[in-house]
Amino acid sequence: MNPGTSRESTSSSTAGCPSSGDQIRTKQTTGEPSMSADRFQNKAVIVSGSASGIGRASAVAFAREGARVACLDVDKVGAEETVSSIRAAGGSAAFFPVDVRDAESVRTATEQAVGYLGELDVVHNNAGANGYATIHEMSVEDWDHIFAVNTRGVFLSMKYQIPHLLDRGGSIVLTGSIIQHGSRPGTAAYSASKLALNGLARAATLDYGTRGIRVNVVSPGTIDTPMVRKSLGAENDEARFAEVRDEWVRTHMAGMRRMGAPEEVAAAVLMLSADDASFISGATIFVDGGATSALI
Ligand SMILES: NC(=O)c1ccc[n+]([C@@H]2O[C@H](COP(=O)([O-])OP(=O)(O)OC[C@H]3O[C@@H](n4cnc5c(N)ncnc54)[C@H](O)[C@@H]3O)[C@@H](O)[C@H]2O)c1
Repeated sequence: MNPGTSRESTSSSTAGCPSSGDQIRTKQTTGEPSMSADRFQNKAVIVSGSASGIGRASAVAFAREGARVACLDVDKVGAEETVSSIRAAGGSAAFFPVDVRDAESVRTATEQAVGYLGELDVVHNNAGANGYATIHEMSVEDWDHIFAVNTRGVFLSMKYQIPHLLDRGGSIVLTGSIIQHGSRPGTAAYSASKLALNGLARAATLDYGTRGIRVNVVSPGTIDTPMVRKSLGAENDEARFAEVRDEWVRTHMAGMRRMGAPEEVAAAVLMLSADDASFISGATIFVDGGATSALI
């Protein structure tokens, strides 16, 4: 697949950032690794939520490094686009429909995926949903939906994946959120559903550590994905997005003062999934450009 590039850029500081005249220097991964790597040659990988955003970047990155990838998602069109782009670049991937809220759907998709892959080594359980309201204003249906995707969906995925890993070990990475570090107004359901993943990862680390199964959480800060653009009311509107992005970054993204790219989260998922990370389990890694280092 394609060789890598990275982009280095400078921009004038914004309010609340370094004093005027200072520049913010960022080096951002654009989806291509800077050197060829094959850490996942012959590895069998499942990525959920691979139709879009972070999951798509993760599936593409695993394939680029030699993995066979099963792309699971409820969004057939998006996931098939991911599969097509992997195959067009010479990689190996196939789509399997799943609704992670539904036990039978997860069981079937997992069996089909492992049938295609022949075995299972690595999993990125990434499908997620958000929704914003204070507790007294949140509908019970919205609460249940967010938990069904973000928490029950991860439990169900692990329930049907782990039997395939028990005798050979492997890596499971969950997509958490910066919200596991500190909450934001109007995010009760999302915060609680993502914090639950810490407990799930820690308990699984203890239950399966001696079987060689490592379980970690990658917790992104704000990443430029369709989910975020929609949440900011700027779906399919570049001008509006540029406006709200700058305000969001100024007020919420201390440190590197920018949104992340999905590929930058994928890089952390691959790092934790690689054999090099053989003694890392139960960890939560924030991929947030330093935002969680701020007091406010
Ligand atoms: N983008 C961010 O800033 C950010 C920050 C922190 C955490 N996250 C988390 O990252 C993960 C990916 O989000 P994203 O930003 O790439 O958003 P996205 O909307 O681009 O991708 C989410 C994917 O999950 C899939 N999905 C949703 N419900 C599903 C279901 N019931 N069954 C199967 N698949 C389903 C969607 O079809 C989509 O492909 C989510 O878990 C999200 O909570 C994102």
